[in-house]
Amino acid sequence: MKQIRITETVLRDAQQSLIATRMPFGDFEDILSEMDKAGYYSVECWGGATFDSCLRYLGEDPWERLRKIRAAMPNTRLQMLLRGQNLLGYKHYHDDVVEKFVELSIKNGIDVIRIFDALNDFRNIQTALEATKKYANERTVASGCISYTQSPVHTVEKYVQMCKELKAMGFDTICLKDMAGTMSPYEAETLIKGIKDGVGDIPLILHTHCTTGMAYMTITKAIEAGVDVIDCASSALSNGTSQPATETMFYALQQYGIDCGLKEDVINKVNDHFKPLKQKYIDSGLLNPKSMGTDSQALVYKVPGGMLSNMIANLKDMNALDKFDEALLEIPNVRKDLGYPPLVTPLSQMVGNQAVVNVLMGERYKQISNEIKNYFKGEYGIAPAPVSKELEAKILGEGGQPTDCRIEDAKRTGEDFQKAKEALGDLARSEEDLMSYICFPDQAKKFLEERKAKEENVCTYTIEEA
Ligand code: CO
Repeated sequence: MKQIRITETVLRDAQQSLIATRMPFGDFEDILSEMDKAGYYSVECWGGATFDSCLRYLGEDPWERLRKIRAAMPNTRLQMLLRGQNLLGYKHYHDDVVEKFVELSIKNGIDVIRIFDALNDFRNIQTALEATKKYANERTVASGCISYTQSPVHTVEKYVQMCKELKAMGFDTICLKDMAGTMSPYEAETLIKGIKDGVGDIPLILHTHCTTGMAYMTITKAIEAGVDVIDCASSALSNGTSQPATETMFYALQQYGIDCGLKEDVINKVNDHFKPLKQKYIDSGLLNPKSMGTDSQALVYKVPGGMLSNMIANLKDMNALDKFDEALLEIPNVRKDLGYPPLVTPLSQMVGNQAVVNVLMGERYKQISNEIKNYFKGEYGIAPAPVSKELEAKILGEGGQPTDCRIEDAKRTGEDFQKAKEALGDLARSEEDLMSYICFPDQAKKFLEERKAKEENVCTYTIEEA
């Protein structure tokens, strides 16, 4: 029997997409031991925005959360999403920081590390891959991830070439990450067939979102074309900007005679747990009904939904909503000038904002954002296609050359750890604390100060009682 496995995203991407990653540990603690029996390929539970949100909004130590999930789910592969050299943010870290982060992630319980780079510049995922291999145990899986996008240069051949590179680098699996949900059923079919034919034997994963309404069709075609793993979310937190529903896909796959290894009664129990939570999130306003619907605009304009709402907000702020159509037409031009970067954060915002500025100023690139300047200086890595030489000369000066971001990243001086130690003093009690500070200094420091204050309060109380 053909096998397709399912990754459950409810603890990471589903809640990140629908409720801005605000699910506290207490909301899912009681269901973890049940989830452990479901038979998922993996449970995505960490990385992305969960780390920042734990520190910033939930008053939780992200490492402790991971250890608790690990303890409650000994039989399930735990998965995280890692932005390569950016770790969980948008700036490049030094190689020693990246290596330590991966080491600690595995040590605290992560099995599957899904690693991507916004530009698909695979030099930016090399260090994270090497660290994963270095600290791997028998359960560790290094998954190389491609940011999927559509452009004149993003052909099936280009994607096949990228997959070959990832395989040659030593990744165990390959994931296609369609963050905007714009991969059509036809594209999924041709792409996955192309990869299966051209790259050969390596497990292929499809990650998509229901945002535009195509995900179920896209996944069905992907399955027919030979995909091995699909990402789904427990139905209470599925659809809309999240993933397709786990139970629905289970049912459909069964009819095909495809075994996905899930236990029906268990996945139904998991959903029963999240159903009342969904209602709670709706009642509190955390879950906006808008994110549960279908947004086909992204298909019309060929840009992610979030990028459109961002542009509309910017234009409204400047009292220039009448320029919206013009700004939309400018997006493909800016994108071409930048060498067709995938429209993923932060590039989607950078392209959108520059398009708005170009239109409002009545002259293209009269004003250029610092982010775009840094992009041309080479800080993000290498663009998928050649950038506009004219714009490059304007930013770097005649004959100016972009610098190689890898030269700066490769430094292993320990300075980031030293700075963290100095800034935290006795607030830091572990390498994990230092790492939290290196990733999110302000949020981590605040969290660690509160942790200390709480303990001191508890301490005083105990003494008085005695
Ligand atoms: Co996603």
